Amino acid sequence: MRPRAIFLIGLPGSGKTTWVERYRPAPDQPFAVISTDRLIEREAARLGIAYDEAYRQLPSKKLAAEARRLTRQAVERGWDVVIDRTNLRAPTRATFLRLFPPAYVRAAIVFAVPWAELERRLTARAEAGGHRVGPRALAEMAAIYDPPGEGEFDLVTFHQG
Ligand SMILES: Nc1ncnc2c1ncn2[C@@H]1O[C@H](COP(=O)(O)OP(=O)(O)O)[C@@H](O)[C@H]1O
Ligand SMILES: [Mg+2]
Repeated sequence: MRPRAIFLIGLPGSGKTTWVERYRPAPDQPFAVISTDRLIEREAARLGIAYDEAYRQLPSKKLAAEARRLTRQAVERGWDVVIDRTNLRAPTRATFLRLFPPAYVRAAIVFAVPWAELERRLTARAEAGGHRVGPRALAEMAAIYDPPGEGEFDLVTFHQG
């Protein structure tokens, strides 16, 4: 079977990481999860600081470069790769898409959640001790969203709720 590159596309709170936690490919198919949040958490643990502080200290360019390095490593092994980043901008997605050789199936899953539900979830997540994404940051991210383009992926599916 061809290995898969799965791009999760969605605003914070849209359920990407929850989807990853439930993802079960074929038992013999290893997969790597490339997650900005995990990188920030790893850095926070390494330095013994809070998530928010680690987030402030890590330039997004450095995070993206590290995510690409881990993606290349998984591709060398022929693993499935799940890109658990917001993946909202097409140019940024392109910098990851080009890391996958033609053997890979390129799939996108778009997470569409009503705005009020998104805000409710993010408030709940922050109250449960998770990191906080405010309404302004959310609106800024929504404004830069590029839907998957013609020919960008081999398949695009939509995940509701
Ligand atoms: N289908 C769902 N219905 C209700 N709550 C959900 C659903 N999916 C995720 N959540 C909750 O919403 C919050 C954000 O989900 P998460 O998977 O962390 O989003 P993302 O990774 O896209 O930021 C979490 O608290 C999670 O438990
Ligand atoms: Mg997440």
